[in-house]
Amino acid sequence: MNLADLNEVAQAMVAPGKGILAADESSPTITKRFNAIGVTSTDESRRDYREMMFRAADAMTKYISGVILYDETIWQNAKDGTPLIKLIEQAGAIPGIKVDEGTQPLPACPGELVTVGLDRLAERLKKYYAQGARFAKWRAVIDINTAGRIPSMTAIGVNAHALGRYAALCQAAQIVPIVEPEVLMDGDHDIDRCFEVTTRVLNVTFQELRKQRVALEGMILKPNMAVPGKKSGKNASVEEVAERTVRMLKACVPAAVPGIAFLSGGQSDEEATAHLDAMNRIDNLPWRLTFSYGRALQAAPQKAWSGKSENVAAGQRALIHRARMNSLASKGEWRA
Ligand code: 13P
Repeated sequence: MNLADLNEVAQAMVAPGKGILAADESSPTITKRFNAIGVTSTDESRRDYREMMFRAADAMTKYISGVILYDETIWQNAKDGTPLIKLIEQAGAIPGIKVDEGTQPLPACPGELVTVGLDRLAERLKKYYAQGARFAKWRAVIDINTAGRIPSMTAIGVNAHALGRYAALCQAAQIVPIVEPEVLMDGDHDIDRCFEVTTRVLNVTFQELRKQRVALEGMILKPNMAVPGKKSGKNASVEEVAERTVRMLKACVPAAVPGIAFLSGGQSDEEATAHLDAMNRIDNLPWRLTFSYGRALQAAPQKAWSGKSENVAAGQRALIHRARMNSLASKGEWRA
């Protein structure tokens, strides 16, 4: 492992005013998104959609540091035969790859999941590196269900262990790991419970990263923010979310980590931007805070495009706008 090179890539992923476009929806997930806009999901329509985004020059050159791809996309060519990965590189952005293989039920832990995909990961990482990927992503999913006494320490522990195994394998393959322990915001819990569970998850995750000798300078953390569950009927102000999230991260995330790139997790476009902006207005942050949004960057362009070639420019304008808003938020310079 060459730590200086890993650190250089990690720093570039969170360069000032830039963040990450999470375009790594699995085929079933992107099909769900396409269904919502009346588009049939085929190899070709998925290619056309992603090509539209990667050719949105202003977004890709000014605001997007890197793109997380799904396995299908990293091997696909644009309509004119140019590999999609080349479009990303030509825009000066870094290609990345989702390497987990989704979740499975965790035995003896009803309602809980473990992320899988470690078998043969070392070989897969070699192929992805050769294809141009310089960072990767692995998402662990932790649900909160107070009635079901979820999450269990078992689920937190095995998911953190897998994140550690994945991160160590990535660094050995000269790939920067994005470590994503996502505490879901679907439940009926309040912001205090989200804060408490996320704190525990982050602490156990960093224990595992240390145990498995992951170099913190060569990774990026992708966490959720501290927010009330969607079914709680409760709201928190933008300032409260920002203050709680930063407090939680300061207590758990060593300053050696170059950057934190948040997931949007089901927040609206504007909420995700406002929260990021408010956090970046807080003084003395030890790491760069930016976005690694999927839905909060893509919902607007998907709608504007709606699968029609005549809407490509409108789709690109929508992506450029959201990327620019989040770029401003990553500097604490966004205005509602
Ligand atoms: P969302 O921003 O839609 O949560 O997606 C980010 C991501 O990569 C989830 O793994």
